[in-house]
Amino acid sequence: MALKNDRFLRALHREPVDCTPVWIMRQAGRYLPEYRATRQRAGDFLTLCKTPELACEVTLQPLERFELDAAILFSDILTIPDAMGLGLTLEEGVGPRFSNPVRSAADIARIGIPDPESDLRYVMDAVRTIKSALRDRVPLIGFAGSPWTLATYAIEGGSSSDYKLAKKMLYDAPADAHALLDKFARAVTLYLKAQVAAGADAVMVFDSWGGALSAAAYDEFSLRYMQLIVDGLKAAGVSVPIILFTKGGGLWLEKIAATGCQGVGLDWHTDIGAARARIGNRVCLQGNMDPAILRASPTAVEREAAAILSSFGQGSGHIFNLGHGVTPDIEPDNVKALVDAVHRCSRQYHAST
Ligand code: CP3
Repeated sequence: MALKNDRFLRALHREPVDCTPVWIMRQAGRYLPEYRATRQRAGDFLTLCKTPELACEVTLQPLERFELDAAILFSDILTIPDAMGLGLTLEEGVGPRFSNPVRSAADIARIGIPDPESDLRYVMDAVRTIKSALRDRVPLIGFAGSPWTLATYAIEGGSSSDYKLAKKMLYDAPADAHALLDKFARAVTLYLKAQVAAGADAVMVFDSWGGALSAAAYDEFSLRYMQLIVDGLKAAGVSVPIILFTKGGGLWLEKIAATGCQGVGLDWHTDIGAARARIGNRVCLQGNMDPAILRASPTAVEREAAAILSSFGQGSGHIFNLGHGVTPDIEPDNVKALVDAVHRCSRQYHAST
């Protein structure tokens, strides 16, 4: 069935739209009181992810409040390492932890590639449940972490600010690092393919920590594996648009766009008009307001949104978003001010000629 609102997909294909589509990374999250209530009912975050009806409920919550142009599957990038048996726990205030981190060739040899429809069945069930509950109101975005970003969690055993052990492996044991990244690339390709088969209308790869690498290491250990995912999906006949987002990847936009993806996510360091001049005739750009601006007044939020729309300029090929996820301290009314301002202020850039 045709989508009632297909602005998001039209922008990804750089086809005309009436106004700029907008969604927000982490749009279902702790800044929403109704999310906190559902999470409390679930007991904890992982149970929420693993219960398709509850994952569906929180996916739809931001769409009830705001005129968002896309839904994103409620899940986490760490479902894959969890299914590989790394022993994931997520504690409030501590963040994700793995009880069996992957640090040696033997550790890497032990981990298997999860079968999405059995080992990650709860994710595919969530996609099917959400897709049906959406009734084609807006498209559904599926997602996964990039191999490098997943490897940082698997090697470090949790979040890290400097990736000491992960980077050490890249330089001391590059063959081990490649073996691990190759397993993650194969797992992510199967996982995204299964999400699309279950109903996802587009997929996004979160390379949250690619920007921590040197240019050479980015090519060898992050971009190369995202390229394998793009190629693998295409070879498997997956035709939905793919968005690649390397946080801190502003210097490498040409290389990211050259992978054959349809959309490139931008963090807030890059001027979107300059990014458009570099790669905007090849791909759609997604981003890129600094999430910190949502702490300012609605007037400031609207002014900054208008500045980004103006910097992108006339025509399609822009999906408005933040440059990273919305944080738990944000006032939901400010997100409403942002979403409404994007729709209102962008019409002038899509006037039919
Ligand atoms: O965008 C969405 O609304 C969809 C849901 C989504 C979540 N995580 C839910 C979540 C998505 C797309 C993610 C991706 C994710 N998860 C990334 C990549 C995006 C990014 O932010 O760079 C990363 C690095 C993770 C790993 C992760 N998950 C961390 C480090 C944490 C703990 C930090 C924190 O914010 O608490 C999580 C937990 C998590 N994932 C929460 C949510 C809503 C908070 C958990 C809670 O409710 O307590």
